[in-house]
Amino acid sequence: MSLAGKHIILGITGGIAAYKSALLVRLLVKAGAEVQVVMTPNAKEFITPVTLSTLSGKPVISEFFTANTGEWHSHVDLGLWADAMVVAPATASTIGKMANGVADNMLVTTYLSSKAPIFVAPAMDLDMMAHPSTTRNLSLLRSYGNHIIESRAGELASHLTGKGRMEEPEAIVEVLRAYFSRKDDLAGKKVLITAGPTFERIDPVRFIGNYSTGKMGYAIAQEAAGRGAEVTLVSGPVSIPAPVHPNIRIVNVESAQQMLDACEEVFPTADAAIMCAAVADYAPVAPSAIKIKREGNEPPVIHLVKNPDIARALGAAKRPGQLLVGFALETDHEGDNARAKLQAKNLDMVVLNSLRDAGAGFATDTNKITIFTADGRTVPFELKDKRAVASDIIDTMLSL
Ligand code: PMT
Repeated sequence: MSLAGKHIILGITGGIAAYKSALLVRLLVKAGAEVQVVMTPNAKEFITPVTLSTLSGKPVISEFFTANTGEWHSHVDLGLWADAMVVAPATASTIGKMANGVADNMLVTTYLSSKAPIFVAPAMDLDMMAHPSTTRNLSLLRSYGNHIIESRAGELASHLTGKGRMEEPEAIVEVLRAYFSRKDDLAGKKVLITAGPTFERIDPVRFIGNYSTGKMGYAIAQEAAGRGAEVTLVSGPVSIPAPVHPNIRIVNVESAQQMLDACEEVFPTADAAIMCAAVADYAPVAPSAIKIKREGNEPPVIHLVKNPDIARALGAAKRPGQLLVGFALETDHEGDNARAKLQAKNLDMVVLNSLRDAGAGFATDTNKITIFTADGRTVPFELKDKRAVASDIIDTMLSL
């Protein structure tokens, strides 16, 4: 009965995987939860409200009003009643509405009113899943702190094979169990996190940069704040949405020098720092004040100077009791290079990601990491959603 007494809203949308929602209701009730089903009008084409109300023991809500009595269903009360809201299956359409605040049905209105943690289990055809609009909308939901329960690869209703199958109901219940059994294990701790690239100015229109999007660092910030930490997120220039959490303060910077200045201000009072930014190692010595012209000129020679190593500077200033976590982004000799960085920068642990691993590193929603700790452990992890990777990083950090 690990979900005993938990109030769960189960949002069901109009996709073929809705047939699995009956089992999901049953498993949630068996685990001790009180389940309120909210369906989109289309979902009723795939599974009947009678089945779901029988299994949940509560009338299903689908419309804003009950037609014959005129009774209003308050999405606000419902949102506040919930300990968690699970949208399973979540179609591309509902994901888009949730991401963009299109409140034209009871499910999305309830979502927008809810202060509870939200879990979204997408289910759709493989091409819809891979479409840039779906990818963008899922990224937006992640940035709101919503938990995405990744869909699986397999045979789809279209008889095509690929990613798009809704996660199995048993696994969704496990995700909720894990969520509710977690602790506020970073409560009262101050954590500094760097994220994104740095841009080093060549002239007013050009810069030296790299492919970091900020997704990994922002996921760590969201996870740490979700676990009770007070987070300062020092972010290089990125175009993903800022994480939304009252415990996250964002300091936007552009260059490595600005990132160093921001970190040096915060680090003395931090309990831990996680250096996820892809900091440019070199910067132009003398950026031009005006745009460098192409016509009539030889190609310019840009003289570079070494940037400060922020992780190394914090490692040198680290006091007993503070934890410093670095990343190592490698393309070769991964283990050796990561261990060398652990030592050279006086880190307590280093998170290795290799560009040789598919789905790892820059810009992806997933990452595959191996953690090396200063006390001699090497801990490899599977390819996971960056939020789940963030959770592994923090768990390992706490083990130190
Ligand atoms: O942002 P995403 O698109 O999600 O991509 C995530 C990521 C690939 C950027 C991230 O997972 C990652 O690997 N970040 C570190 C990238 C990097 O610069 O690695 P590095 O091996 O060059 O640096 C080693 C460590 O020193 C890092 O902790 C880095 O932040 C730090 N460093 C490096 C150079 C420098 N001048 N100052 C630093 O503090």
